[in-house]
Amino acid sequence: MVTHCICAKTSFATVLAEARRSGWTSVDEIETATGCGVRCRLCRPYLDSALTTGQTQFSPRSPLASDRFLSGEVAAR
Ligand code: FES
Repeated sequence: MVTHCICAKTSFATVLAEARRSGWTSVDEIETATGCGVRCRLCRPYLDSALTTGQTQFSPRSPLASDRFLSGEVAAR
């Protein structure tokens, strides 16, 4: 299971709880505030899925199949 941003050593559960408290609604806001998604960027689709679904544990491929990620709505950079 994929459960956290490896680079920032922060779980998606922690990020999502803080996002809910702070009102963050985008991966960019999470990046700015936590550093998650900044380095290798592999966790970006998982962070987006956490924001949109509330899920914090993922099979390795499920967020990559997200319509929002594939459509470019969520920038891969
Ligand atoms: S795993 Fe999150 S930036 Fe690398």
